[in-house]
Amino acid sequence: MKKLGIVTSGGDAPGMNAAVRALVRLSVWNNLEVIGFLRGWEGIIKNNFITLDARAVSGILHLGGTILKTSRCLEFKTREGLEKAAKNIEEDGLDGLIVIGGEGSVRGAYELSKLTDVKIAVLPASIDNDVYGTDETIGFDTAVNTALTEINKIRDTAISHERTFIVEVMGRKRGFLAVEVGLTAGAEVILVPEVEYSEKAVLETIRRNASIGKSSSIIVIAEGAGKTTSLAEAIEKNVGVEVRVSVLGYVQRGGSPTARSRYLASIFAAKAIELLLDGKSGIVVEVQKGEVTSISLEESCSNEKPLNIELLRLAEKLAI
Ligand code: F6P
Repeated sequence: MKKLGIVTSGGDAPGMNAAVRALVRLSVWNNLEVIGFLRGWEGIIKNNFITLDARAVSGILHLGGTILKTSRCLEFKTREGLEKAAKNIEEDGLDGLIVIGGEGSVRGAYELSKLTDVKIAVLPASIDNDVYGTDETIGFDTAVNTALTEINKIRDTAISHERTFIVEVMGRKRGFLAVEVGLTAGAEVILVPEVEYSEKAVLETIRRNASIGKSSSIIVIAEGAGKTTSLAEAIEKNVGVEVRVSVLGYVQRGGSPTARSRYLASIFAAKAIELLLDGKSGIVVEVQKGEVTSISLEESCSNEKPLNIELLRLAEKLAI
């Protein structure tokens, strides 16, 4: 392998820059030429790239976001867009392409891999932690800690005003972020897209809390789980406690990556370079029970990562 392309795709995640830095520095070690495509798949379709060397990635390890920018590229979902991308990476003389992104980027990489012999590897990076195959994605730990810090502050005012807060976290389709944040924040209720919740049951939990002297509660809800405002109105109307809503939003996507996110970025990069140099292709690098391995793009795309529902029950028991 002589020439490698790198792209960051989909929703950005803290640690993407750590991954870019690691990939570039390891490529330099292996005498590989490296280019970085700008703005995700759009950059590959437009063949818009920069040359990257060891100095180009200085001072970015601690930065959130991605120096390569990213985008959500609808054209890449078309056959014509995919073909343009495949043609460009071949005409650029790439032997390998490393995609840093989440579940949607894994699917895009898989579709692209069907149209080119350029070896493709994905480093799973998303605050949603929803990539099948890996226990954890780059950026997830940072988003959990960012949300947790905000909820700790919300709990101060919830206690002072004896209010129930509904805190909406990211996760349009999956509840991994909500579960980990809810459990570690001591939330009384956690609502996720995977489990249809009963409003009646939520009201009963808040009512019971009030009756046993819990004068404030925290409900963590994933943005894809349901209607936060109508749930707040139902609690106020039927339980008679004051409710406020706090949508954490995009703070969960930024910030300096934690040590864990930087660690995953570095070891995933090392594994991806190792496997591409070994001639592997069409892979997603992953960590499973502490071991860094890989699975095929096809296997990752064909399965949905299971959510550990037991953690919801544990959170409920811990919050009595
Ligand atoms: O994929 C990560 C994510 O942050 C989701 O949790 C969220 O629903 C989505 O991206 C928001 O997408 P956008 O950045 O395009 O608004």
